[in-house]
Amino acid sequence: MAQWIDACGVDDIEEEDVIRFDHNGRTFAIIRDHENNYYCTDGLCTHEDVHLSDGLVVEATIECPKHSSIFDCKTGEVETPPACENLHTYAVKLDGGRVLIEI
Ligand code: FES
Repeated sequence: MAQWIDACGVDDIEEEDVIRFDHNGRTFAIIRDHENNYYCTDGLCTHEDVHLSDGLVVEATIECPKHSSIFDCKTGEVETPPACENLHTYAVKLDGGRVLIEI
C-alpha cells in the first residue's frame, strides 16, 4: 500500500535541479523545476541503469547524463530517444518545508 515518505527539505534542492533519494532498496529522483514545482520519478533512466540525479533539469524536464534522453518530470514521458520507456512518477506534496513522496 502506498505511503507518504519524507524525502528531503524543500531547500535541499536548488531551483531547476535534482537530488537522489534512496528508500528501502529503491532509488528515486526528486526534482524541483524553474517554477518551484516538485516531482518524483524513478531514480534510474529507463534506457540503462544510470542515476538521473546526475542529469540536467531544464524547466520541467530532465536529461539523462549518459545518452541525453529527455523526460517530462511531471508525466515521466520520454521526449527524446534513445530511451523508449517512460519513467514512473510518484505523487509529491509539500508539508511544513518538507517534500513528501507517495510510494
Ligand atoms: S542511459 Fe539514459 S539515455 Fe541512455
